[in-house]
Amino acid sequence: MKPRDRLRIAMQKSGRLTEPALELLKRCGLTFRQSRDKLFCFGEGEPVDLLLVRDDDIPGLISQGVCDLGIVGRNVLNEYRRGADGDAPALAEWRPLGFGRCRLSIAVPQDMEYREPSDLGGRRIATSYPGLLSEWLKVQDVSATVVTLAGSVEIAPKLGTADAICDLVQSGGTLVANQLRETDVLLQSEAVLAGPDALPADERGDMIELLLKRLDGVIQVRE
Ligand code: PRP
Ligand code: ZN
Ligand code: MG
Repeated sequence: MKPRDRLRIAMQKSGRLTEPALELLKRCGLTFRQSRDKLFCFGEGEPVDLLLVRDDDIPGLISQGVCDLGIVGRNVLNEYRRGADGDAPALAEWRPLGFGRCRLSIAVPQDMEYREPSDLGGRRIATSYPGLLSEWLKVQDVSATVVTLAGSVEIAPKLGTADAICDLVQSGGTLVANQLRETDVLLQSEAVLAGPDALPADERGDMIELLLKRLDGVIQVRE
């Protein structure tokens, strides 16, 4: 692949992270020609462009070298790291960004008896995070069936396709609306800056360093 002379950052096209991510980049001095309906946003001042995609695709795009950096939830990044085959370039969390805070948790129907993780033994747990859930079950030494769903995980117990769920919780509203009770937190998550394990050896590496410096300044001011 021909080396690019512009930096490319992947971020969520539409969702909870979109607005705060754009706001953060703006505070780092990056502005974009507004073409929000498009996949690609051209950077105006600096040689930094945006790719607006599904959040779940962001780690793969970085790993393939299509993008240099990504703004993505730690949950999505870590799930990708669990599932990525050994040949794929390793990804790193470079900075926690302080927004999009949520947690990945186990939740059970309000009327289910639950005291500890071993109560999940032999049960079916629906999730969009099979890698992270499997890892946690292993650490807990619990043998359960992981049912992978792309979305609407919270209705699985009502539909009878699972006994419990493992999903993101922010306000807790979704759990309450579905008569579910949060029992265990697997991961505290927030938006992070993700990138390859090592800086690219060309000019993009310098651009990334500059961007990280600005980012640290912005994050410090905010704290
Ligand atoms: C997440 C998660 C829950 C909800 C939890 O979904 O899957 O459904 O947020 O938030 P709450 O505790 O504030 O109710 P999201 O809306 O991000 O979309 P997705 O499921 O389509 O990824
Ligand atoms: Zn998603
Ligand atoms: Mg949801």
